[in-house]
Amino acid sequence: MEQPFKKIIHYATLAPSGHNTQPWKFAIKDNSILIFPDYSRRLPIVDPDDHALFISLGCALENLMVAANHMGFSTRVECFLRDGEAENIHVTLNKEKVESDPELFNAIQHRQSTRSQYDGRKIPAEDLEKLRQASRQDKVSFILFTEDKDIEPIIEFVKEGNRLQFRNNSFVSELISWIRFSKKHALTTCDGLNSASMGLPFIPRWLGKFILNTFATPDGEAKKCEKLIRGASGLALFIAQTNDKESWINVGRSFERVVLKATALNIKHAHVNMPCEEVEVRKKLQQHLGLKNERPLLLVRIGYAEPMPESYRRPVKAVLVGT
Ligand SMILES: Cc1cc2nc3c(=O)[nH]c(=O)nc-3n(C[C@H](O)[C@H](O)[C@H](O)COP(=O)(O)O)c2cc1C
Repeated sequence: MEQPFKKIIHYATLAPSGHNTQPWKFAIKDNSILIFPDYSRRLPIVDPDDHALFISLGCALENLMVAANHMGFSTRVECFLRDGEAENIHVTLNKEKVESDPELFNAIQHRQSTRSQYDGRKIPAEDLEKLRQASRQDKVSFILFTEDKDIEPIIEFVKEGNRLQFRNNSFVSELISWIRFSKKHALTTCDGLNSASMGLPFIPRWLGKFILNTFATPDGEAKKCEKLIRGASGLALFIAQTNDKESWINVGRSFERVVLKATALNIKHAHVNMPCEEVEVRKKLQQHLGLKNERPLLLVRIGYAEPMPESYRRPVKAVLVGT
């Protein structure tokens, strides 16, 4: 099973992750694949409680399951999520007749965070309904905002979160540490946010740092974000019903299925997470939506645009460990 399992792990690694940290390790054990969190890749400033890290693991898990089903394996998932060495998501795979979704499987290789300006075209109602269907997951709620009157107040929360982040030197330093300004750096690490995937030219690292530190002002970044949202066809919000690792993993699974379905429908997406990441703004968003303990954790704009250059991934051998 080693070869097909390695192929399945390859598809899992194509999942999105915060700052493209790829905070995962995998192991093959008998007829199982285990996914471990890689805490050496955590983001202590933007994600102090690791919820985004576990959402990223949920995205990888969903890709793994879609790919396994496509290759004729059933999947049974058990989560062992107490802190410690053995913390893992355990997926048992058995060769048997299973239903697979070729459309979702094909989308794994084409899905990307498309950070460019969208063209404002409306998404047909039947496609919005397909996204709602794809979002269905235990412990997760999903809201689509497509009317101006619903989007406008969210824009203000995004701008507030964005300003707070760009006023925080630690946030900017952490972000810069994951940007791969030069092609050489991007190809060496095969992780992080490469300039091309953000719509920028590859430039020397010192110049990139200088430009970001000098020109990325809180108000300028907030305005850019506002323009990007106004060009989108809508916003999609993912809410964890409880505040624990299992719920965060489920948010990742729901998110990944929605964006795979969106990709199959040629709908692009990009994150505007700021109001979910800044705790004070998140509280205001919770209040605005009438939520109590449920946490809004991921916010993406959706719409139509040309594809952008892709981000890189580490090869399977770099993320595969012995058990
Ligand atoms: C939990 C999570 C949080 C993310 N937050 C942001 C974000 O705040 N801003 C952003 O531009 N992209 C965000 N992303 C997208 C990642 O940067 C992106 O997935 C990664 O760079 C890999 O690129 P790809 O999605 O094109 O494969 C997030 C992704 C995940 C899974």
